[in-house]
Amino acid sequence: MPVRNRLAEMQKEITEWRRDLHENPEILFDTHRTSAIVAEKLQGFGCDEVVTGIGRTGVVGVIKGKGGSGRVIGLRADMDALPIHEETGLEYASKTDGAMHACGHDGHTAMLLGAAKYLSETRNFDGTVVVIFQPAEEGGGGGKEMCDDGMMERFGVQEVYGMHNWPGKPVGSFAIRSGAFFAATDQFEIVIEGKGGHAAKPQEVVDTLVVTSHIILALQSVVSRNVDPVKQAVLSVTSAESSSKAFNVIPQTATLKGTVRTMAPEVRDLVEERITAISKSTAEAFGATVEIMYKRSYPVMVNHETETGYAIEAAKKVSGDCEEAPLVMGGEDFAFMLEERPGAYILVGNGDTAPVHHPKYNFNDDAIPAGASWWAELVEMRMPAAS
Ligand code: NI
Repeated sequence: MPVRNRLAEMQKEITEWRRDLHENPEILFDTHRTSAIVAEKLQGFGCDEVVTGIGRTGVVGVIKGKGGSGRVIGLRADMDALPIHEETGLEYASKTDGAMHACGHDGHTAMLLGAAKYLSETRNFDGTVVVIFQPAEEGGGGGKEMCDDGMMERFGVQEVYGMHNWPGKPVGSFAIRSGAFFAATDQFEIVIEGKGGHAAKPQEVVDTLVVTSHIILALQSVVSRNVDPVKQAVLSVTSAESSSKAFNVIPQTATLKGTVRTMAPEVRDLVEERITAISKSTAEAFGATVEIMYKRSYPVMVNHETETGYAIEAAKKVSGDCEEAPLVMGGEDFAFMLEERPGAYILVGNGDTAPVHHPKYNFNDDAIPAGASWWAELVEMRMPAAS
């Protein structure tokens, strides 16, 4: 298969890029060096257009194929590292203390650069490829910022694809699932205000802690009594603090914190709505008030069915097989791109390595030929050049 052979030939070069990125990790939106390298390489490959500064430090490259089909496909990689002290002992380990490519985004960036080089050289497709390099995947919402900057409209992206390496899965093999794939990860904070006072005069106070206790228990009914039992949801209250530290003072206020994990947008809406309603009415029943802060982080990442089919087809051409992946309770910023355009997100095996976000994790360079070939295969399959 020519795609695989050409990209296999490029493995050494792509590995060198990857290790350079690994040695120089950058966190969240501070991917200045990485973004500059990506932009410079894309220029060097002969991309038709290279645009920097989308979603702050995001970079986009445009590669035009042979015909005039008008089709446009977006391919996305993430560039940011994590605030972890590296313990791999590798010769190309992080030179920046407290920053590390512990999620393999160095590999993702290098593989998509490899595919961009191949696609710029060959142009054996009818349409346009938009390569998307995003900052701040690790909790910063860099993908969302690129979307908010109008990226999809500006480059006319019609469908979009993403990829992540997966430790514990045979190197270069693929796995994917259609529909909900990665969880929505939300946070809440509830401030309860009663009427503080002397602990020996309960008739004169509104006991904030009694109200708070009722709210904690009532919240346990959301998952057990409101959410459809065949759907996934977690609601955990993880912190409770009051304004009183004394044994004889009833506090004026108390604060609850917690997290919500869901796998379906309607379940997410339901849980948020129930948290608000239960907290307010419970407080009201006791004569207290509440203020609720519910912060939606990444939404559920939902793979579109048709595009998942294309992703599987390309994976099978590259590696001969594509497994069904399990649900992942972690979050993924690519969810925002999949809300804007149809597309799919695939996992590529990283072999028997430490898990992602671990100080001994390392991206497996042997996954490069398969990962980069999947990008190229997808493009040539979805936008075949007229023969
Ligand atoms: Ni990651």
